[in-house]
Amino acid sequence: MTTSLHHSGENHSNHARDTIAKVEPRSLRTFTPTQAVLARSAGVFHWTPEGKRLYDFSSGVLVANLGHNPTSWLSRFKELMGWDAPSDGPYTEALTLTAYNAITPLEAEASEKLLATLRGEKGGSRMQTVMWAASGSEAVQKAIWAAMARDKTREMILATRFGFHGKKGLAGAVTGSETDKERDPRVRFISFPMAEIIDLSKRGQPIDLGPYRRELEALYHQFGRRLTALITEPYIGGGGSYHPPAEYLQLLQAFCREHDIVFILDEVQANFGRTRELFAYSAYGLEPDIVVLGKGLGNGVPVAAAVGRQDLFSCMDFGEGSDTWSANPMCCAAVLATLEEFAAHDIIGHSRHVSRVIEEGLIRLKSLPFVAHVRGENEGMVWGVEFKDHAGKTAAEWANAAVLACYQGDGVDGIHLLGPLAKKVVRISPPLTMSEIEARESMELMFRSLSGTTRPVLAV
Ligand SMILES: Cc1ncc(COP(=O)(O)O)c(C=O)c1O
Repeated sequence: MTTSLHHSGENHSNHARDTIAKVEPRSLRTFTPTQAVLARSAGVFHWTPEGKRLYDFSSGVLVANLGHNPTSWLSRFKELMGWDAPSDGPYTEALTLTAYNAITPLEAEASEKLLATLRGEKGGSRMQTVMWAASGSEAVQKAIWAAMARDKTREMILATRFGFHGKKGLAGAVTGSETDKERDPRVRFISFPMAEIIDLSKRGQPIDLGPYRRELEALYHQFGRRLTALITEPYIGGGGSYHPPAEYLQLLQAFCREHDIVFILDEVQANFGRTRELFAYSAYGLEPDIVVLGKGLGNGVPVAAAVGRQDLFSCMDFGEGSDTWSANPMCCAAVLATLEEFAAHDIIGHSRHVSRVIEEGLIRLKSLPFVAHVRGENEGMVWGVEFKDHAGKTAAEWANAAVLACYQGDGVDGIHLLGPLAKKVVRISPPLTMSEIEARESMELMFRSLSGTTRPVLAV
């Protein structure tokens, strides 16, 4: 049995934490020092069972880009599912919840609309086929399967080092680096610029692409036509929030084009507005062969997809990409409702504006002696705050203490953050719909929580 965390004055939450610790393994969650219990949510807020209000700086995990339970999204979702139909018997005539191996008109509409949206954005010309999936890692796996299916003699995959693509199967195989676990011999890792972009202050500065180019050429020299696919994230997310200059990603794409290697862009985390455009391929001037979508795609309903060149996906035969949940009607309804919301409102324009307010607040944190760096997307809605060793405490201890201090906040309001990435980086990724006032107030609360002016948690 796992021991559960307790916070004083949180009887209902502590009871839920105890129950979970008894009936679920701890491996189901990554460690967070707060273990927040969420009773209700709306917009950028969660409320705990004790009634404490938490600004959500995680959006789930970059999922609720439109905020939690947006009213127009919810009503469209229910309408598409037929859940608004009157019912006077034991069953309601509505859309089926499961259409395994069958087809619903809603699925056709969702696939068409998703393709039209992707193609309508700069760089979307290769978006021809939708391979639905039930999670991001599954969609990554299907993207790699499609790349490999076109020529079974080409089995080698390149992946950018310290990326995160999921934990399962091939998605796990292309995650991390060559040193952190037993590796799949088909995968080779390539360098991603990290030192050059360690802090926001380096943003926009050119980097020397020579070493990266030479590394790619050496790999081609070694493996030649055996290289079948290259997978990267637009920015390193789970590995600690590193946001590269566009030229680096364009170099990877050019290398793939030159050698007929499938260029896979994993936007599971970046998609739907995190990078100041609807899709990161537009923001970074790319034209991927396959783009992998997830998280924000369903704004909370679990849905993912690998989308791209038809000639690749058509190399897979009946059933090779099928499973129980992919293209499930509920997922299709969620995707349609999400696409419609982004089309109807200037959510991206709004978030670019609020992004500046948040970034200003994050830069202010650098005046604190235990904050080392801030990194993030230019006018986007995702940052990492890196902590450093200070006053006898390690960077990881400061990062965890910061998460806890923000949760405690001023006692009435707090901020919900996830446990640190790469041990010492705290992710900031509120919903794109956060208002300017909410941004100002929450950044003030964050500064006060970390500087110890609300309570002495982090006082130095
Ligand atoms: C870039 C990226 N790819 C893939 C995944 C895996 O997605 P899932 O957890 O839905 O399997 C994640 C999850 O954090 C991610 O950030």
